Amino acid sequence: MGTKWIHRTFFLTALLFFGLLVFYLSTAYTQQNAPPQGVPQKQQAIPLQILPKDNAGNVDWVKALSQGIIKPLESLDPDRPPTPVIDLDIVFKVKGELPDVVYPHYPHTQWLSCSNCHPKIFIMQAGANKVTMKKIEEGQFCGRCHGIVAFPLSNCTRCHSKPKR
Ligand code: HEC
Ligand code: HEC
Ligand code: HEC
Repeated sequence: MGTKWIHRTFFLTALLFFGLLVFYLSTAYTQQNAPPQGVPQKQQAIPLQILPKDNAGNVDWVKALSQGIIKPLESLDPDRPPTPVIDLDIVFKVKGELPDVVYPHYPHTQWLSCSNCHPKIFIMQAGANKVTMKKIEEGQFCGRCHGIVAFPLSNCTRCHSKPKR
């Protein structure tokens, strides 16, 4: 009888210590993974349903930004100056029936800085890059991002957007 009582006390004490250990580890873990200084602490998750969709049904991040639904941080480094935005469309003429491609700098420079593309992915001169659909599909030029971090190549008309007269 006496031993049963000892066992119970021992079991409950062990349980208490285990609980404390888990609590300690979880607080230590959240502190270690706290966002760097300057990053707002309270960030709300945005429900997927309220994000605008493009013609193919994928999230339209450009619209989400312009409608103010999302406000991405300029940079994780609060001291970094904001990246410049330019409004410059480049048209890639496409042979055949397919609409020409319009590359818009405006939405890209809202997300990216010039050096993300110039000069490594694109020489900074209209017509200077020998872009083909095959190279894009192989992951060069536009294919460095589209299909990976930006909307997929299967959405032809979001790039081939300028119909021929
Ligand atoms: C997502 C990639 C990307 C980013 C980011 C980007 N550009 Fe470009 N840029 C292009 C492409 C594509 C072209 C056209 C290249 C071609 O026609 O071969 C171009 C062309 C240019 C040209 C040549 C225009 C002409 O008429 O010859 C200038 C100038 C330029 N970009 C400036 C900038 C500046 C300034 C920034 C940053 C504010 C910037 N670009 C950011 C992709 C980009
Ligand atoms: C360095 C990465 C990168 C490269 C290279 C790049 N893009 Fe993008 N592009 C993006 C991102 C990021 C977005 C915004 C997110 C999205 O729409 O998925 C975007 C959006 C777009 C949009 C949507 C614009 C809007 O107003 O809705 C078009 C069109 C586009 N890109 C065309 C191109 C074309 C054409 C090329 C090649 C000449 C290209 N992009 C190269 C990253 C890139
Ligand atoms: C991310 C933007 C983007 C998407 C999405 C895209 N294209 Fe293209 N496409 C381009 C660019 C840029 C060119 C180069 C234009 C040129 O010939 O100078 C091109 C060229 C082409 C050409 C001309 C011949 C060649 O090979 O260069 C064809 C055909 C073509 N694309 C078909 C398609 C089809 C079909 C789809 C959808 C399955 C598609 N593209 C999706 C950007 C895109």
